[in-house]
Amino acid sequence: MYSFKNDYSEGAHPQIMEALLKSNLEQTVGYGTDHYCDAARRIICEKIGREDADVHFLTGGTQTNLTVISAALRPYQAVISADSGHICVHETGAIEATGHKAIAMPAHSGKLTPSLIQKAVDTHTDEHMVQPKMVYISHPTEVGTIYSKAELEAISTCCKANGLLLFVDGARLASALTAQGSDVTLTDLARLSDAFYIGGTKCGAMFGEAVVLLNDAIKQDFRYMIKQRGGMFAKGRLLGIQFGELLCGDLYFELGRHANQMASLIKEACQSEGFSFVTDSVTNQQFPILPDTVLTQLEKNYLFEVWEKRSDGYTAVRFVTSWATHEQNVKQFVADLHSACKNSLG
Ligand SMILES: Cc1ncc(COP(=O)(O)O)c(C=O)c1O
Repeated sequence: MYSFKNDYSEGAHPQIMEALLKSNLEQTVGYGTDHYCDAARRIICEKIGREDADVHFLTGGTQTNLTVISAALRPYQAVISADSGHICVHETGAIEATGHKAIAMPAHSGKLTPSLIQKAVDTHTDEHMVQPKMVYISHPTEVGTIYSKAELEAISTCCKANGLLLFVDGARLASALTAQGSDVTLTDLARLSDAFYIGGTKCGAMFGEAVVLLNDAIKQDFRYMIKQRGGMFAKGRLLGIQFGELLCGDLYFELGRHANQMASLIKEACQSEGFSFVTDSVTNQQFPILPDTVLTQLEKNYLFEVWEKRSDGYTAVRFVTSWATHEQNVKQFVADLHSACKNSLG
């Protein structure tokens, strides 16, 4: 069995494992106040060109989303998201459990737009309703699409015009920033958002997300928020070491590029068999719509997610590649897909 189920099936990139091992017996202070975390913070501030940014390290995506969102909002305020956004669909109501409503807007291709944001603002008119105060997007989106710089600029302008904060979930940021056609950089995210995070868990780290806070209103007392939400990791240096390795050179981006290249081979194979897709993803998650007869054969050797069951004999599935996906395994998959199509479709 080979798994295309997700991008966290494997452990961590060897360079990270080596750094963890090398520092293993060193004694440091805890909770992210050690020299490894400080060094990683400096690297990130340099990379985004913002010395004034606050950088915090957390262990997972859901925890990061709920900590940032609840830190930014007053009790009656709400966050606007695409209806397919991770916080709306796959976080067990974690945002709502902090007391904040997530306003889900019906979005095409997983993407929020200024007009959807404006509609959410305009339909929340007074104190009998929650007050929209933040916009949450993920880059890439839940369905693998990416925002262009122009789209992000338009969203940012709309947020500013409406007094909204912009938060970008970068759980798979390495994949988004290195995707074919991407014109967005870390510097752009720092310029256009109030907070974003550089995902590690799904981009080659053992675990960890680096939160970058740009707006002073969110920065205040953020360590208190992390601690109260259970996110302050005693052995915080394990996060600093990992982000130091990922970001001191080009490793983070190399790993994103590799995952995307592997996914593009799967995409091309599905296209050449004539199949369509849920969205035109350019990142490491692909969502082809395949005949059930073909899937029955693929299931014998591959693990993948069912995305959407349909009633026409086809099912939308999700194939995810990672920093560690072997080209050999992808080539074998492409050959197996071709055989399965020949066998069942003639
Ligand atoms: C875009 C996005 N944000 C957040 C998360 C949540 O991360 P975690 O599973 O580490 O809580 C995920 C998980 O897949 C995700 O895809």
